[in-house]
Amino acid sequence: LFETEADRPERIGIIGGSGLYELLGNADHDRAGTPYGKASDAVAVGELAGRPVAFLPRHGDRHQYPPHQINYRANLWALRRVGVTRVVGVGAVGSLTPSIAPGSLVVPDQLVDRTAGRPATFFEHPHTAHAPFADPYCAPGRAEVLAAASDWPAIDGGTQVVIEGPRFSTRAESRWYAAQGWSLVGMTALPEVALARELGMCYLPLCLVTDLDAGVEVGAGVTQEEVMARFAANLERIRGLVGDLVADLPLERSCDCAESAPNPM
Ligand code: ADE
Repeated sequence: LFETEADRPERIGIIGGSGLYELLGNADHDRAGTPYGKASDAVAVGELAGRPVAFLPRHGDRHQYPPHQINYRANLWALRRVGVTRVVGVGAVGSLTPSIAPGSLVVPDQLVDRTAGRPATFFEHPHTAHAPFADPYCAPGRAEVLAAASDWPAIDGGTQVVIEGPRFSTRAESRWYAAQGWSLVGMTALPEVALARELGMCYLPLCLVTDLDAGVEVGAGVTQEEVMARFAANLERIRGLVGDLVADLPLERSCDCAESAPNPM
């Protein structure tokens, strides 16, 4: 799609979660492959709120990629290749505490990795590097999300544990996660956020709480229907928030996400 670096403006990338499969009405589609294979879908490249953006539905256009089979490396690489330097990651998560109700919007600040066997790095023999990841999300980026979502209102901070899935957690697992002080549970933030860091991209999280996880919920536990229905009920609000966020993001980055990363590209 872009022959030269000059054709390639700095873009804001948006990765859509369950239920957010399309965002840009009038877009070009970048279908080029990556060294890691195919991304979840063609990258839609266009404008949102007057800003250059790129959109990718994480699970594919028909929700055909479950969390453990998403080609996270191809997705992040494809976004970076069309000029994305900041990624807004929209995702559905479960809450591990009754104080964070379904329908809440959370901007977490920490991650715990309980995934297993996912290709999780661009660095392979002979390229050896270790990305700094103490603070997985871009700090100024998080502040921008919180400001844009001030009337939701968004919850500032929290630890998301990322499970392998695709099954939901048992009650014992869920209670164990909560006992660690973790507040959210999801299936896709890792390796996605780590790969963004390796490519020097800022990651701005936008987590919609779709359910109370098994340890908190009375009754049968979480179902996929519950997650999808709750996301669908909030879809227009999420779209509006993403538009506001994109419109308000400063033109220049003020963080060191790019400089601190061992960019393999
Ligand atoms: N995504 C949405 N809700 C979830 C839950 N309860 N556990 C894991 N991933 C989720």
